[in-house]
Amino acid sequence: MQTLIINIKELLQVRETHIDKVSGAEMAILPSIKNAFLLIENDSIIDFGEMNNCTNFDNKKIIDAKGKIVLPTWCDSHTHLVYAGNREQEFVDRINGLSYEEIANRGGGILNSSKKLNETSEEEIYNQSKLRLEEIMQQGTGAVEIKSGYGLTVDGELKMLRVIKKLAQNYPITIKATFLGAHAFPLEYRENHAAYIDLIINEMLPQIAEEKLADYIDAFLETGYFSVEETERIMLAGKKYGLLAKIHVNQFTAINGIEACVKHNALSVDHLEIVTDEDIKVLKNSGTMPVALPSCSYFISIPYTPARRLISAGLPLALATDFNPGTTPSGNMNFVVATACIKMKMTPEEAINAATINGAYAMGISQTHGSITKGKKANFIITKPLNSFYEIPYLFTSNLIEKVFINGNCI
Ligand code: NIG
Ligand code: FE
Repeated sequence: MQTLIINIKELLQVRETHIDKVSGAEMAILPSIKNAFLLIENDSIIDFGEMNNCTNFDNKKIIDAKGKIVLPTWCDSHTHLVYAGNREQEFVDRINGLSYEEIANRGGGILNSSKKLNETSEEEIYNQSKLRLEEIMQQGTGAVEIKSGYGLTVDGELKMLRVIKKLAQNYPITIKATFLGAHAFPLEYRENHAAYIDLIINEMLPQIAEEKLADYIDAFLETGYFSVEETERIMLAGKKYGLLAKIHVNQFTAINGIEACVKHNALSVDHLEIVTDEDIKVLKNSGTMPVALPSCSYFISIPYTPARRLISAGLPLALATDFNPGTTPSGNMNFVVATACIKMKMTPEEAINAATINGAYAMGISQTHGSITKGKKANFIITKPLNSFYEIPYLFTSNLIEKVFINGNCI
């Protein structure tokens, strides 16, 4: 069955030939077709163009998109949306003056979520997490990366990754799984980091690889968490099992972590609220995608990733939510795009490139996702009637989405 979307006011992110990402000044260009059509069959895009070249309407389901914008679904390359319970008490503690670091140092933060995760059954974690997955699909996300990292035990990490696998089996959205055993040191390993890293490498990784539960490996490379050397051990171990690295780095401090990530061919480096000129230099001419998480900066009041410095240095930039119970209890990519424009001074064109094709790159799926290209997945958003696509970030709290198609199906 073919579906034909006609009279589209503007079809965004149209790429005739394949590109895997956009960088630097190219990010300001968002190719589009005004008064367009889009033709899909089963789960794929098979044609698009100007309305006056659309002649065959037979045997097709027709959707009239008059006055509406069509764009690829969001590619959210960084989330922790599988978790148990919430951390709203820490939210109030921060309002009352405690910092994220102070909360973590008294046993809260990631260790708080880890305790809850290990006390909750796999079925219950699945039931809590699927609601978040369903919510982000309604908000226009068509592909998402989900991390483990609240288990911090062999059983807990496997449990999380099995939940991610089950979500991938039961929902049409594309899901990439990342193993984040190196998210924090459990209390019993505080004084013996090497023993916890041994546990990750010798116990967790082989079982995860055996059950094919992860596509990527991650670590929280940060002062007080995993050092550069410790993260390098994790990246090397992951590589042995074919897991490329996607690393949390430069969230609070710059300790030459980005250089180590680039050296190990990390697919992405994520957060980057603090960036030195040296960090920018090592990212140049690498295949590593910088990923900014503006909802995290917003929610815990830390600096925003310096998008203008990165882009004017010629680098690419992706945008993602960081959906997690501590620093970002939101998986709304529309808010991410708006916040990138409002707070990071990205143009709407740059922000949409960052949240589609560059997000796809940051999870290794730009062959199939992130643009309107023949042969790619039929993943797209049809908006409500809009004056122009600039209203997507401008009307920053309105729900502007009318329909979301994932793999050719309206969800
Ligand atoms: O990306 N910074 C490390 N990890 C998460 C937060 C984890 C948590 O607080 O639960 C992040 O912000
Ligand atoms: Fe994160």
